Amino acid sequence: MSESAVLSQSTIETIEWTSEGVVMIDQTRLPRETVFVTCRRYEEVAEAIRTMVIRGAPALGVAAAMGVALGALHSNDLETDMPVICDALAKTRPTAMNLFWAIERMKQVYGSIRHLPLSQIRERLVREAQAIRDEDIAINKAMGRNGAPLVPDGKAVLTHCNAGALATAGFGTALGVIRAAVRMGKNIDVFADETRPFLQGARLTAWELQRDGIPTTLITDNMAGHFLKSGRIGCVVVGADRIAANGDVANKIGTYGIAVLAKENGVPFYVAAPISTLDLTLASGDEIPIEERGAEEVTHVQGVAVAPEGISVANPAFDVTPNRYVSAIITEKGVARAPYEESLRRLCEAARSKMR
Ligand code: MRU
Repeated sequence: MSESAVLSQSTIETIEWTSEGVVMIDQTRLPRETVFVTCRRYEEVAEAIRTMVIRGAPALGVAAAMGVALGALHSNDLETDMPVICDALAKTRPTAMNLFWAIERMKQVYGSIRHLPLSQIRERLVREAQAIRDEDIAINKAMGRNGAPLVPDGKAVLTHCNAGALATAGFGTALGVIRAAVRMGKNIDVFADETRPFLQGARLTAWELQRDGIPTTLITDNMAGHFLKSGRIGCVVVGADRIAANGDVANKIGTYGIAVLAKENGVPFYVAAPISTLDLTLASGDEIPIEERGAEEVTHVQGVAVAPEGISVANPAFDVTPNRYVSAIITEKGVARAPYEESLRRLCEAARSKMR
């Protein structure tokens, strides 16, 4: 991976396909510095995913697709290499459904064109990866349109982790709903949880919203209950990493607690996620694989130890919020409400029939 330029434009380019390779903003270095890295080989994309240079479920899908395309560009024997490339990318992070969805989509395309000359296959796979990126931005805008009417005017919105432009190809899922509500003229402000241990809320959400000029108050995660009880918060909007058929939602660790506190205080809890985050093969959230990350994310803050050496640590990156706490799931195809088995299946069918 090589580094380049600083950010100057106002829109955030999370990930792009260029003639040099796959360019992504290094999210581990925000907000201190805005540095872009260029991945020239699929192994570098896999490494960028593993090390959180790029993160957030939809962004991981785009990265994986571009990784497959990069792999194809450097292979002279795709029949042998394609499964190897796809496996390496699939092994990077286990929870975000979009990663597996995107790899599967690339495999399907390859399957349908494998008889063509190599140059044409490569070109088609690159186009597909670019299409996944472009579609993601359009999907987020549609989610914003569907979700914005749910956001109460004159109140604050609480969000957790980063489900913004940086977690997607652009605009964001949860932050897309907030951005769309602001563009509708709603008078809202945002409470952003810092999101221990990786601080996506403090480092990324606060940075994005500040750049947009959306009034934002950064709080530590343990303050959420206090503010939900205060009456200041009109709704919670979060993203998702994987949603089971019954509407159970895997999202950043800490989401479950916020959902319970929201229900206790009569505050609606909304999840904004594209159809590609749904995993209808799983009956419930109990089956969602939860990533366990390294101990140093908990014992250290920005490289400084905050715990005694040798302490035993748990670091699940996600938790599962049971469907009974979820007021609605906002997708690009519409808003799903309980019972989710039915409503999510209908939205998926709508998405599939559009593709045919
Ligand atoms: O570990 P991360 O930073 O990849 O986790 C991201 C989240 O949990 C987001 O809230 C989720 O992916 C939704 S992003 C649109």
